[in-house]
Amino acid sequence: MIQAPRGTFDILPESAAQRKVVEQQTEKILGAAGYRRIETPTFEATELFARGVGEATDIVQKEMYTFDDGGGRSLTLRPEGTAPVCRAYLEHGMHKLAQPVKLWYLSSFFRAEAPQRGRYRQFWQVGAEAIGSAAPETDAELIVLLADLLQALGVKGTRLRLSSLGTPATRAEYREELKVYLRAHADELAEDVRKRIELNPLRAFDADDRGTRAVMRDAPTLLDRLDDHDAEHFARVRALLDDAGIRYELDPTLVRGLDYYTRTVWEFTSEELGAQSGVGGGGRYDGLIELLDGPPTPGVGWAAGVERMLLSARDVVPPAELVDLYVATAKPDGTRAAFELARDARRAGLQAQLELAGRSLKGQLKHADRLRARFVAIVDNGHVALKDMASGEQRELTAPDVIPAILREGRIGG
Ligand code: HAM
Repeated sequence: MIQAPRGTFDILPESAAQRKVVEQQTEKILGAAGYRRIETPTFEATELFARGVGEATDIVQKEMYTFDDGGGRSLTLRPEGTAPVCRAYLEHGMHKLAQPVKLWYLSSFFRAEAPQRGRYRQFWQVGAEAIGSAAPETDAELIVLLADLLQALGVKGTRLRLSSLGTPATRAEYREELKVYLRAHADELAEDVRKRIELNPLRAFDADDRGTRAVMRDAPTLLDRLDDHDAEHFARVRALLDDAGIRYELDPTLVRGLDYYTRTVWEFTSEELGAQSGVGGGGRYDGLIELLDGPPTPGVGWAAGVERMLLSARDVVPPAELVDLYVATAKPDGTRAAFELARDARRAGLQAQLELAGRSLKGQLKHADRLRARFVAIVDNGHVALKDMASGEQRELTAPDVIPAILREGRIGG
């Protein structure tokens, strides 16, 4: 039997209904703040991600599905949405619109990661991007909107970690300072940390051996080294979050797997998720549009994993699927009239299903009951018996009277 590729999954109707709830909540929450939906292509020029996400990142180094389009151009299935949205912003001259341009998306993304619970090779993200504003209110508003979405979906056990990365120059200087500090304490560090001082000094913050941890308690942090503008921006973001009653933990070791971030970065985790605890995160990317050959343009945004939100919410209950009318046939010769009645009912705005499996009349009534149909029309040679499934009451009608009779009682759906 041929199976779906490793790390991918089918979205069966039950799950599709839950995802619809995610989509509706997103539309409601982001729409109310003036964000409008965008959809970009599933694949893009590979260079967009190499430049945008960063050559040195794991995503670009190891996780991209890259292929030749047959004409010598390298294409890649999108591993994330921010670079594509920025490309679209430039390609469609959106800098001419009122700024910031506020966009949201709900799309699938592709990363060749080792599959496990909450980590897939094709997964879905809800994302929001505000391009063209450097105001700290934009950062704070986006964080609040993500918090609102997680809350509306009932995502449990969330924590918000917040930091600022400053500018690339501040970061480079800080890295050198940290290396000097680590070299001075090399004897006290775990061996693997010591070996990686030059390559990845920030890793030292993640180590769990006592010696390294003791050294790191007094290590300089990037937050202490922000320049005045970046420090002021960050202070304002924090003040706005404090006013909004959003709890967060300052985490100067917060690293995100994408190179485009500047200034504010954040991540929501959920303790329901285990190892893959990141449920949604984002940050500012003031250099990205320029990196893509655009004019200097600030931007900020986030993305949240749909599967991870659903895993940690668990009780996202889609509204029951309702059937107003089940059209049954008493005899095979009633099928043409039944077919027509079901079609007319749908045109009148009712949710109507037709018997399609050649069941006995008893079987049809049982099936209608299982579907929780409100009415069953039993079509028999020009006559229709309309049965109200709740009361059991049955009336004889002519075919043209059936739909008005149901409409008089009001549709369930609306
Ligand atoms: P990211 O942190 O790489 O950020 O991904 C955002 C979210 O997508 C994660 O928190 C996680 O819930 C979900 N996710 C990531 N990889 C997987 C996977 N393999 N399987 C399942 N879920 C996954 C970004 O992608 C940035 N573009 C966010 C952003 C927008 N920053 C600024 N604007």
